[in-house]
Amino acid sequence: MSDPNPRKRVLSGMRPTGRLHLGNYMGALYNWVRLQDEYECYFFIADIHALTTDYADPGDLSDKSFQVAVDFLSAGLDPEKCVIFRQSAVPAHSELHTLLSMITPLGWLERVPTYKDQQEQLREKDLNTYGFLGYPLLQSADILLYQPDFVPVGQDQVAHVELTREVARRFNQLYSSAETPEVAAAKSDKEKIKAEVGDNAIEAEILPEPKVLLTPSPKLPGLDGRKMSKSYGNTIMLSDAPDDIRKKLKTMVTDSARVRRTDPGNPDVCPVGDLHKVFSNKEKIEKVYAGCTTASIGCIECKGWCADSIIEEIEPIRIRRAELEANPERVYQILADGAERARARAAETMQQVRSVIGLG
Ligand code: TRP
Ligand code: SF4
Repeated sequence: MSDPNPRKRVLSGMRPTGRLHLGNYMGALYNWVRLQDEYECYFFIADIHALTTDYADPGDLSDKSFQVAVDFLSAGLDPEKCVIFRQSAVPAHSELHTLLSMITPLGWLERVPTYKDQQEQLREKDLNTYGFLGYPLLQSADILLYQPDFVPVGQDQVAHVELTREVARRFNQLYSSAETPEVAAAKSDKEKIKAEVGDNAIEAEILPEPKVLLTPSPKLPGLDGRKMSKSYGNTIMLSDAPDDIRKKLKTMVTDSARVRRTDPGNPDVCPVGDLHKVFSNKEKIEKVYAGCTTASIGCIECKGWCADSIIEEIEPIRIRRAELEANPERVYQILADGAERARARAAETMQQVRSVIGLG
């Protein structure tokens, strides 16, 4: 029986960079966990994408993917509520990528801002490759394969979703006139419904244009005050134990105007203040402002409170992580089940795509 009120579909992915840090968590996972209650969700580990930059040294890719899967599950993604899988376990991602590559002008890919930026930032790697140019198109295939309504991503990925929408539009324009039975049926349904309830009421395109669901990604500074990032070595990991977090916090930079204990400071220009804003409750934040601006608390005390807040947020995650690490078979089983469900969903789209192109 078909669901009379189907939930909207959401899809997102993450490159397997190994264990996740707090910045990865707050920027994506934290939001995903909340989305799984409201939407039909597909979340995957983009292991093929990792090869676009790390092809020369993929060494521990499968371990990195495993670590990310463990972080997904420990953070609260629930395989009963959402589909969790590895990209490489669903070959249709690569197949749709190839088919979309036929219709995608090179200029569209060359103009994606991350292309030149990343090439410059990762100078030590030779990114003059076909796969690297195609990175955002593989991402388009990832997305369009599941015909989602929304793609939750941070600001840095918006250009990739924009490209995805353009590619979908081109695909739909190019192939909408082919009258396969499925398409003819979809079109006539669309006409009927349009006549009854007006325009935009139904999307009968094979590859509907997904919308960005801009996830709030709070500014999360690392220990040195720069953006928290693995490449800066300034991270707090989701898997860090309470003592490590306290130790790390002690080394964190603060408002540079607070040289002595008696100098007042300003939490708005202090990286520790930024962390409080993300992890502490209102009362604690008020205490920090009052104490810091009047020099009635010291930075050491303030950092201790900050460590408490972070530990409270991630300690349950760390405990679940330890349980899953002790039981890797369970993680592999969840990924295998997820891949099976993802393959089934992807097959529905691919059947329509192949048929409209004449490969069916
Ligand atoms: N490019 C994304 C990132 O670096 C990862 C990604 C790959 C993705 N495929 C996706 C995100 C599909 C959303 C949808 O974060
Ligand atoms: Fe930063 Fe806290 Fe020190 Fe103020 S008291 S400068 S907010 S660490």
